Amino acid sequence: MKDFYQYIQESKEACKNIYGLSPDEIPFLKVALTREQLHQKQITYKKALSIVKEFMKKTIEYLDGVPTLIVTTDAEGYVLESFGDSGIKQMVDTLGITTGVQFREEDVGTNSISLALKHKEPIGLIGNDHFHDCLAGIACYSAPFSYTDSNELAGTVSIMTFVEYANQFHLGLLSSAVDTIEGEIRLQEQNHRLYLLNQVLINSTPLGIIMTDNQGGIIEYNPGAEKILGIPREMAMYHGIDGIDGLGEDVMKVLREQEKIENEEILLLDHQHDRDRICLVDILPLYDSFHQLSGAFAQFRDMTSYHELQKQVIQSEKLSAVGKLGAGFAHEIRNPLTSIIGLVQLLRQSNEHNKYLQIITDELERMKSLVNQFVLLGKPTKLHKTNSDVVQLIRNTVELMNSNARLNKIKMEFDSQENELVVPIDESQIKQVMINFIKNAIEAMPEGGLLLVRLQVHSEEKECQITIQDEGKGMTPEEVGRLGTPFFTTKENGLGLGIPICFDIVQAHNGFINVESEEGNGSRIHLHLPLENGRKRKKEEN
Ligand SMILES: Nc1ncnc2c1ncn2[C@@H]1O[C@H](COP(=O)(O)OP(=O)(O)OP(=O)(O)O)[C@@H](O)[C@H]1O
Ligand SMILES: [Mg+2]
Repeated sequence: MKDFYQYIQESKEACKNIYGLSPDEIPFLKVALTREQLHQKQITYKKALSIVKEFMKKTIEYLDGVPTLIVTTDAEGYVLESFGDSGIKQMVDTLGITTGVQFREEDVGTNSISLALKHKEPIGLIGNDHFHDCLAGIACYSAPFSYTDSNELAGTVSIMTFVEYANQFHLGLLSSAVDTIEGEIRLQEQNHRLYLLNQVLINSTPLGIIMTDNQGGIIEYNPGAEKILGIPREMAMYHGIDGIDGLGEDVMKVLREQEKIENEEILLLDHQHDRDRICLVDILPLYDSFHQLSGAFAQFRDMTSYHELQKQVIQSEKLSAVGKLGAGFAHEIRNPLTSIIGLVQLLRQSNEHNKYLQIITDELERMKSLVNQFVLLGKPTKLHKTNSDVVQLIRNTVELMNSNARLNKIKMEFDSQENELVVPIDESQIKQVMINFIKNAIEAMPEGGLLLVRLQVHSEEKECQITIQDEGKGMTPEEVGRLGTPFFTTKENGLGLGIPICFDIVQAHNGFINVESEEGNGSRIHLHLPLENGRKRKKEEN
């Protein structure tokens, strides 16, 4: 009480001596916000204002019969909202106290809002406690509030009534109401922050996250889940967890048995692209505060590319094992082979007419080239790239293979829109690739047919595509899947090394190979090679 008295006296002296106010004047509130500024402030304070309103309406109910006006200001004393008794409202309106005006001691004289803001504590002014005579008919109680962690002042809430209803009990009531309001605003802020944090985490994680109620109805479904499953959120929410093949059964099992599932690898379908995804899944039962089952939480990670990578690693390990084996073999075989070839040549000099020696030489040469091929597979492919005209290269290769083709009643054609196309490649290695594929195509058409080689340029992708197309027996999807695996062959005399070598060479060129084939309907092998150096190409799925 003593403090209040002192505050009021100090203020009144300032009004008289510093601001030059006189008690018999009508106060004039000078500084007001523009409509737009007021609107902006009301938006900033939206949550606080709505909580104040909700709580203060209840407080008005307690003050049964007391005409009361509730006024909320910001930390600078600007009136953001007022509501309550219309009689009082009318009275303060005539004094120019409306939303948007600022309570300043220098304009309104001694008043509870300015004092509460200045001293940061609740304060009540009754009748003549006000500086101006015209305010002697009212009693005002104001309490400051804050809700930030730093306890920064956010504004005030005030109760105004006619002086005959004044009661010190009003200040206590207001203080406790404002305490509750602060707590509620803090809680809501905190909830909102937690909510935002959750949303950011849930929305940005690549993990698929689904939460269900205890019946399997979906209550949370994040963008990660949408991406992996290819099912739009609305549709998933509509169908519930049952609508998600693979996952639905497991979630229902967790709900039934209340036992978590961890690190289970399951196959989920990406509905948008109609492809299988290998996923690692955890599913946990969720409980409410009464330890009752409230639902399930499922998170899953798409491991498909990891698996593909592993497959590639295994493949390349196989290749390098083959390579080491090959190098060892080659070493052992090449030396005696060289001596045998030399000796046979000597024999031929003295036995010029022995035709068997010629055959033996030919066969030995073939053996030598096979051994060399084997060595090639094992070594990391070293390229000697030069700018080469692929059109000419293909023409030469087709010509080279033509006699072989003709023997098998096969017609070879080369189709190209370009007359010249210069690309950085290792000419002899790309030639080797084409020979391997052309050989395969010839071998696939024992009854003869058309073998077409086509060159296309895809400027946008900065690549050229060489297609080798046959009308042969084609391959089953399983066979296509096994292409590139060393020693995979369906031929009696095949080694199953042709395509692994080709894959290696094309990959070293930063290119890729894809295969279209259908059993009984021929095959199309596409070699994609970058037109420029240094561009990594990704292998497409086929
Ligand atoms: N154009 C094609 N048409 C049908 N099947 C093919 C074709 N190309 C490859 N294949 C299949 O792929 C397998 C592997 O081919 P790859 O060239 O690697 O080995 P290969 O031809 O059997 O033996 P080699 O090591 O002598 O080339 C073949 O055995 C064949 O079954
Ligand atoms: Mg082959």
